Order: sequence, then C-alpha cells, then structure tokens
Amino acid sequence: MAKQNIDWSSLGFGYMVTGERFVSNFKDGKWDDGVMTTDATVTMSECAGVLQYAQTVFEGLKAYETCDGKIVVFRPDLNASRFKDSCERLEMPVYPEEKFIEAVKKVVKANADFVPPYGTGATLYLRPYMFGSNPVIGVKPADEYQFRLFATPVGPYFKGGAKPITIKVCDFDRAAPHGTGHIKAGLNYAMSLHAIVTAHKEGFDENMYLDAATRTKVEETGGANFLFVTKDGKIVTPKSNSILPSITRRSLMYVAEHYLGLEVEQREVYFDEVKDFAECGLCGTAAVISPVGKIYDHGKEICFPSGMEEMGPVTKKLYDTLTGIQMGKIEAPEGWIQVIE
Ligand SMILES: Cc1ncc(COP(=O)(O)O)c(C=O)c1O
Repeated sequence: MAKQNIDWSSLGFGYMVTGERFVSNFKDGKWDDGVMTTDATVTMSECAGVLQYAQTVFEGLKAYETCDGKIVVFRPDLNASRFKDSCERLEMPVYPEEKFIEAVKKVVKANADFVPPYGTGATLYLRPYMFGSNPVIGVKPADEYQFRLFATPVGPYFKGGAKPITIKVCDFDRAAPHGTGHIKAGLNYAMSLHAIVTAHKEGFDENMYLDAATRTKVEETGGANFLFVTKDGKIVTPKSNSILPSITRRSLMYVAEHYLGLEVEQREVYFDEVKDFAECGLCGTAAVISPVGKIYDHGKEICFPSGMEEMGPVTKKLYDTLTGIQMGKIEAPEGWIQVIE
C-alpha cells in the first residue's frame, strides 16, 4: 500500500484522523463482534456514565516499520492484559484479550498507509479505550459500554537527540495507596493535569510523584516509570502498588538482565537515596527512555553525574538494545514482536 504523503519526521505527538477504526459495543451482558468504520465521531447520551462519573480506561501502544520493511507491534498481549486489569478495577466488562489483539491487528492493517516509513523515527500510535455509554445518574457502573481503537501517526519523540530533562518533586499526589494508580484510567490523568501545567509554568519538564502516604518514596511521573542506575552499574526501579506497570520498564529490566548481564532490582526507592544514583531515566512507550539530568526539590537540586548533555552510558546501552529489538536489528525474545500480515 502506498504511504500517505506526510512529512513524517516533523510530526508532533498529536491526533490526526486516519482511515478506519474498530468499534464494538457491550449491551445486554455481551460484546458484539465489532466493526471497522470510517466514522471518527462518537454520539451518545448527554447522561452517559463516562460523562458523569469518568468511567473510562485506555491503553497506548505503537505500530512501526522494522529495518526489513515489516509492520509490527510490540508486546500487545501486555496491553491487552493491563486493559483487562483496568476494566476490572472500574467495574467495567472486560474486553477479551484475544479480541483486543485482533482489533490491534485489524486497525494497523487497515491504516498501513499511515505507518511511518522505517528510519523516520515516527510511529503509528494506537489508542484502545472503553467507556460507559448509557445514561447513569445515580453513582453506579454503566450497563452499556463502547470499546474503540483508533490509530494516529506521531513524530519522533526526540527531535535531534535525546537531551536530558529536568523534573521537579511534585507537591500534589498522583495516586493513593489502594487507589487506581496501577491501572490506566482516565481519571488518573484528569487529576494530574493541574500538576503538570504547574510544573511546566515553573519551567520543569515533568513531575516526580512521591508516595501519597509518607511522601518519602519515589513513585513515577505522570506518564512514565523511573529507572535508576547505581554507581556500580545495577538497575533499580521502584516497587509500589500505586504505579502503572509500564511495559517498557518491564521490557528494559528483562533486557538489562538477559541481554546486558546487569543486575536488576525492583524495590522501594526512598527519595533520600536518589542523590546517590549515577543515572536516572523515565520509561514509557512514547520515548522508550527519557534521560533525567536534574531533579529539583524545593530549592535543592540533584544533578546526576551523566549531566545535561547526553544520556548516561548505561541508560544509552539499554535504550539502544531495546530499540534495536523493536526495530528488528537485534533478535527479540519469543513473542515480543507481532508482525502484521
Ligand atoms: C502513569 C504512567 N506510567 C507509566 C507509563 C509507561 O507505560 P508503558 O511503558 O506501558 O507505555 C505510562 C504510559 O502508558 C503512564 O501513563
């Protein structure tokens, strides 16, 4: 299929209407088969559950072209299973995992002309989501739901190289213990908007959230998990029940251990020990790893030895290995790369 005439390298992270999307409805206790449609709009009741009580969950993953010209998606089974966890926590019907993966494949195939060519750094971002669609006025779960999955091409996350960013320790909390921080619910992002707008106004790129109960332990940012490197080259990542289990972070930990022979540790990380790490990065689908150069904490600064010019050496090795696997240059572990036929 001929590609769309788009200047792929100058795309930002924005929404563009593409060809077809997948839509399936849940009614009378069951999901229909779903259809592909060119209709990019949603029409629903003014009293829909999602509009009143924010009953909505979502996922985010990417399709891209590998060095040998195949269109692939990276570990969609993990998005499907995290989506299931999100649905269950918000009392929504689970969208079956195998149907989720099927929908991913259908949408990518139907929008193959929007998959950016290899080497542009751009990707086709996929957004599966679900929401309560019937009228709900008393606070309770909806009875009817819609699952949708659309695609939109997005530009390279780092234009002109991955420059380290500066983040601040946030005075707002992202997630409560026993709350919803571990799932991908829209409500977690609505309540993070004030915190990120505030951080940006103050000149910071991102927020570092601490645990809400004690404010002594590192949690995550609004859209990525932390990964630290100790001075003796060990990889450490925070363990907490209130952070989103990042698929990128889990993949990087595997790569660190099994491809690079590094020691890895998932444990509680106290903010007090952050100053002793050699490198710090944020992991997520969008950037794979964004290096952090500096953390601002109420007038004090933590500057990592890796500096503000480039990624630290261990972070770089991790980044190169995982992106090499994703792009088909390094052999992937079984099942990580799903080719769209
Ligand atoms: C709060 C939060 N943490 C972490 C991540 C990174 O997760 P993943 O690597 O699965 O994209 C995301 C993005 O999905 C997120 O929204």
